[in-house]
Amino acid sequence: IMMQEIKKRGIIIDCDPGHDDAMAILWALASPNLEIKAVTTVAGNQTLEKVSNNAIRVLTKAKRYDIPVALGAKEPLIRKLVIGGELVHGDSGLEGPVLPQNGFSVSDVSALKLFEKILEESEEKITFVGIGPLTNIAQLLITRPDLKNKIEEIYIMGGGTIGNWTPAAEYNIFADPEAAKVVFNSKLPIIMAGLDVTQKAYITREENEILRGQGNEISVFVAELIDYFSRYHYEVEGFPGCTLHDPCAIAALVHPELFESVQCNVDVEVTGELTRGMTVVDTIDYQKKLFGLEVAHNTKFLKNVHREEFVKEFFKAMKSLD
Ligand code: BDR
Ligand code: CA
Repeated sequence: IMMQEIKKRGIIIDCDPGHDDAMAILWALASPNLEIKAVTTVAGNQTLEKVSNNAIRVLTKAKRYDIPVALGAKEPLIRKLVIGGELVHGDSGLEGPVLPQNGFSVSDVSALKLFEKILEESEEKITFVGIGPLTNIAQLLITRPDLKNKIEEIYIMGGGTIGNWTPAAEYNIFADPEAAKVVFNSKLPIIMAGLDVTQKAYITREENEILRGQGNEISVFVAELIDYFSRYHYEVEGFPGCTLHDPCAIAALVHPELFESVQCNVDVEVTGELTRGMTVVDTIDYQKKLFGLEVAHNTKFLKNVHREEFVKEFFKAMKSLD
């Protein structure tokens, strides 16, 4: 039988693993329509060295030694690094399950150089998935604006109309607000999985046992990631389950039908005393309706997710690995 070849979409995952980053990478690996061209790292949940090691270990666990891991920014564009993961992700940034030793080494070029090479060499446009502070992606847009026309879309986990680091700001945007501002104002299509939707994309304890019960190595591994990661969500945040922030960015790419969204203006507060790193989301279009301001509807803001379907698709993807 002739198999029709699936056209794969080339993506670059820019991340700071991180439990939910790890799960996002695995979901992307399991998606037949995606081809991960690179995993690039940025300091965030832990130091650059730690999150880069974690990226390699996750890919090693999935036996994907072929995907390059390149190191990005050690700190934000202009601010001091605020490590996000001590409480949530632990000392290594990926505490919980036993991780394999690194099965390969980091790329000998920087994240920025690798971005340039991939974009220059690709005939198709490339999609970015930014699930850590947006420093690397902003640096690319600032230094190589000529490569913007090689970028298809940018999927982001970050921001929201609520916060999780300060009452106003989500961690990824808080960590490097100037970078986020560059990305949101880049005129490239942005798809934003902020806290409004990611906090609805949770997995309960009972569901995590179903995941573990799937029995394959990756499902068990991910259930163990969730065992650790969920403690913070239950004990500190008082949520009904483990919040799968970063996987939402991948889900929005491979299962857009699971989400409800609105195309609207989003900008980033960089100077606020109480609101540094807040994403200002104009879902009602007030700026236009009340003041006639022609603000760009620069972002597809994800508002809601069909949680049960999301969990089902995630489990299916984890079962399909190894
Ligand atoms: C974001 O911060 C990190 O802890 C997670 O990996 C996610 O990207 C959630 O605010
Ligand atoms: Ca992350």
